[in-house]
Parts: sequence; structure tokens; C-alpha cells
Amino acid sequence: RRTGSGRAHGKAILLGEHAVVYGAPALAIPLPGLTVTATATRRPGTDRITFAMGDPPRTASSSRGFRALVAEFARWSGVDGLCADVVIDCAIPQGRGLGSSAACARAAVTALADLLGRRLDARAAFALVQASEKVAHGRASGIDALATGATAPLLFRAGTGRELPQASGGLFVVADSGVSGATRDAVELLRRRFERAPHARDTFVGQVTDLTDAAVRDFTRGRWSDFGARMTANHRLLREAGISTDRIDALVEAALAAGALGAKISGGGLGGCLIALADDPGRAETVANALSAAGAVRTWTVPAGGGTRHA
Ligand code: PMV
Repeated sequence: RRTGSGRAHGKAILLGEHAVVYGAPALAIPLPGLTVTATATRRPGTDRITFAMGDPPRTASSSRGFRALVAEFARWSGVDGLCADVVIDCAIPQGRGLGSSAACARAAVTALADLLGRRLDARAAFALVQASEKVAHGRASGIDALATGATAPLLFRAGTGRELPQASGGLFVVADSGVSGATRDAVELLRRRFERAPHARDTFVGQVTDLTDAAVRDFTRGRWSDFGARMTANHRLLREAGISTDRIDALVEAALAAGALGAKISGGGLGGCLIALADDPGRAETVANALSAAGAVRTWTVPAGGGTRHA
């Protein structure tokens, strides 16, 4: 083949980020409305795989994540010296905890496999994306590598994912604070903090584990006000751990004041996105409007039953 294509989508973490790096479970939802597509084109005469992103496309070949992806892809495919240009079109805002790096890696590697006329199965796709995520994030739990290919809410535990039945009634409002946060820096900040205080790490991981386990039961039974309370409790723990910001805290308060059942920072933190929960579409709209009025640059509404509406 001369060209191959691949796609993936964003994700938002509902509970458990950061603690998941230390073995706690975490819960994520796919954001199928936030897509990444990649096209790989054979380019004889070049001596390697190149990557370009953006509008107009600019080279991203020196990214450490992509370099790791190429090495891992050569191992998986058994093909050495593949010469191709990969152009990635990413609709996921970067550095906002929405899984853009994992989704780009997933779309790119799917396009390269397609170029060779091969299909990546779920296990291989996970391993390849995770190899790139480990380099990009320092210490990656694997939740992004799985959730950016998931088709239903995902419970991630001990390195594997289980898709949950889609629940009805709840709506998640994801809001972009407009400030990017480097997941790598946030993960490193916690690593250093916990190295000095292992006891604080154990307490954090234990508390988040309890919240997430209980929230999974609430999710499957549609107990949205309980689920929301656990989200807000998880936010407080993340804030105490030092990975929230004043701006995110203000947005969380604005969502709660507008009647959200719960709200928290979502993803890597130190900026990025927050996520709030509403129990009906009217309330979701009120919360989204309140978040915009409080300074969020964009919001997306995601029914717990799937799909993404942009606001
Ligand atoms: O990609 P982000 O920013 O959503 O962060 C991923 C979640 C973390 O728990 C912070 C890191 C990880 O690898 O699990």
C-alpha cells in the first residue's frame, strides 16, 4: 500500500488520576467527539519515519514519544527501515489532561500498521502506545494508552482495563481552563513529594482507592449525587497533594455553585481541564455556562451513556 490511516480519540479521567501511577484503580470515559486522525504515506528515498502535526503541519519527528514509538513499531512489525511520512490531525487540545499524546501515538501507529496491510490488535496497540507514553510522561500508568481506544467507560486496575456498562442519567461537563499543564512535571512533583513522605503516598493512594471503588458502584447503579460527592472529595485530595491550581479551584467552585453534583480537576493537573457532573441536560447547560462565565475557554458535555456534545 502507498498510504495507511488510523484514528483515536481523547479521554477524561473521572476519578483516580495520579494515584493510579501507584497502583490505585482509576475510572475514565472516552471522548469520541475529540478525535485524532493520522495518515502514513510511503516516501521512498527518505531513510526513516517522519511525523508532522498542526495546521500547517510542522515536524514533530524529534519528539521522544514518537521516537520510542518507531523503535517499538519496528520490533512489533519485524520491518526495519520503513520509510514513511505520518501526518497527524489532532482535534484534542494538548497539555489539558485529555490524552492527546496517547491518542496521537495510537492514531499514528495504527496508520503505520495499516500501511503494511496489518491490523493492530488491542494488546499490540496498547503495548506500542504505552512504550511511547512511558517516554513522554516519565511514569505512565497505562490508563491513557487504553482509554484513547476504549468505546465505553473504563475501569483501569493493576495494568488492565475493564469496560463498564454505559449508565444513563448522568452528564459530565469537561471544561478547559485554557492553561496547559505538563503531566510529566505533575507526575515528577508527586514522585519527589512521596519519596520524602512515603506515608503521605500510602494515605493518598488508600483514600483514592476507596473513593474510586465506591464510585464504580455508584456509576453502574446511576447514583449520581453519590458519584458527584466522591468526585469532589477526590478533587480535595488532589489539591492537598499540590497538583491543582487557583484557577482550577475557582472553576470547581463555580461548577458547584451552579448546581453540579460534583467537580474536580481531571488528568495530569497543574492546569488543564476539570470535570463536573450534572444529573440532567438543563443542569449540564447551566454548569457549562457558569464555567464559561468563570473563564473556561471551552466546554464539552458527555452523557455517561456515550457521545460528546460540544458547547
Ligand atoms: O494524560 P493526562 O494528563 O490525563 O494524565 C494521565 C493521568 C496520570 O495519572 C496523571 C498519569 C498516568 O500515567 O496515569
